[in-house]
Amino acid sequence: MNIAVINGSPKGNNSITLQSILYLAKIYPTHNFSILNVSQKIKALEKNCAEEIEILEYADIIIFAYPVYTFLVPSQLLNFIELLHEHKVNLAGKTATQFTTSMKFYDVTAHKFIEENSYDLGMRYVDGISAGMEDLLNPTGQETLKLFFDKLIFDVVTGNTKYIPPYEKNNHPVYTSQLKTDQNNIKLTDRDILILSDYSPDETSIANMVIDFKHASKYSVREINIRNYKFSGGCSGCLKCMSTASCIYKDNFEELFQDSIEMADAIIYAFTIKNHYAHSSLKCYDDRQFFNGHRPLNKGKPVGYLISGNYRQEPNLQMVIDARIQISGTYISGIVTDELVQSTPTSITNLALSLEYALNYKVAVSSNFYYQGGMKIFRDMVYLMQGLMTEDDKFYKQTGLYDFPQKQKLKIFKFKLLGKLINSKFGQKNIQPKLTNYMLKPYENLLKKS
Ligand SMILES: Cc1cc2nc3c(=O)[nH]c(=O)nc-3n(C[C@H](O)[C@H](O)[C@H](O)COP(=O)(O)O)c2cc1C
Repeated sequence: MNIAVINGSPKGNNSITLQSILYLAKIYPTHNFSILNVSQKIKALEKNCAEEIEILEYADIIIFAYPVYTFLVPSQLLNFIELLHEHKVNLAGKTATQFTTSMKFYDVTAHKFIEENSYDLGMRYVDGISAGMEDLLNPTGQETLKLFFDKLIFDVVTGNTKYIPPYEKNNHPVYTSQLKTDQNNIKLTDRDILILSDYSPDETSIANMVIDFKHASKYSVREINIRNYKFSGGCSGCLKCMSTASCIYKDNFEELFQDSIEMADAIIYAFTIKNHYAHSSLKCYDDRQFFNGHRPLNKGKPVGYLISGNYRQEPNLQMVIDARIQISGTYISGIVTDELVQSTPTSITNLALSLEYALNYKVAVSSNFYYQGGMKIFRDMVYLMQGLMTEDDKFYKQTGLYDFPQKQKLKIFKFKLLGKLINSKFGQKNIQPKLTNYMLKPYENLLKKS
């Protein structure tokens, strides 16, 4: 079979992920593997990607092999997907699959994202696998990889592949600006509200939503449109920032981020949905924050979203946004879309109101599985790599994020004792029947005192 491998790692041949593909190529010599280092070469491909397109069009199977980057794929790979659409590449009849390495932090959203984009490109799909960075170095990892590949070939030969047609494009009307600033009210300036947007001049719907949010807000609002920012490039994955806390690129992004974005009292993100996320410049913005480590530094900060596009049809994007809010510990004031244009002005006004409330009063920020699960992965990773991730390690120590359960010695002892008691003859007779009453005791005491 002709297998084209879209190597999404900006590290090109030095990619850890790619080593698994090279391993497969070595042990399955009858198949013809072509490796396309699309992320590393993205600047050149923006000018000419004819050769890559030809290889893709000739392939039977296309494997997206990439590292998970900030809930999804590296910005350069998203950029390459944009190029495929720009060049109207037709990959119908081919089978796509994927292989990733990561810390398994939101690998699920990355995989779903590539699955969705494979269908958009006309391909059929076979589920891929998500590996840990060192899996290939042990026999179980090697076996899993081989089993995956054997089944992939079986699926392609027998036509046992999936195809979920993308939603029909719902061309809802363009949102037009409908709100006005009350002339008698001068905008307040004692809070710094930032709209971090990503759109081009022809994306009028989102531009008008941004205009209306500025009208609706009683505070003056500044805007940074990241599409206009001249990034030297997407995150290269060099990891130098882990020890130096600064990026190898000299394009002043760190200054922009620290001096103009991170310090805002509230942030509204504004973008148009594209390829199941946003334009690759916003993804570049996401990835380039890697220099900042794995520290939730914006706890309680109010945020909101203005989104143009069919958000209701994008459950994976919804999960990415929900998870990002959770992991950052920010307070979500609202998500407004232009799907139902009639109600959009009211929703924008409500978003501005919610944001004002959160800026002036304490609000409840609660954590769910997205935070708890994600932070456990971060906690263990930072602890293991404390020698390298020194800033993260310091922060986790100071803020109690190293909440390993084995530290809770008293609690563990209490449950051991309880287990012994319950399993004794005395306990079976006297404690077991009243267990739920005992569990309620502290709550009853609290309610009595309240
Ligand atoms: C900018 C950046 C973002 C990352 N984001 C994630 C992430 O969201 N989830 C995760 O599990 N790992 C994440 N990682 C870790 C990489 O996925 C992991 O190191 C991967 O194995 C690198 O593969 P490569 O050598 O093929 O590039 C990130 C790494 C970088 C540099």
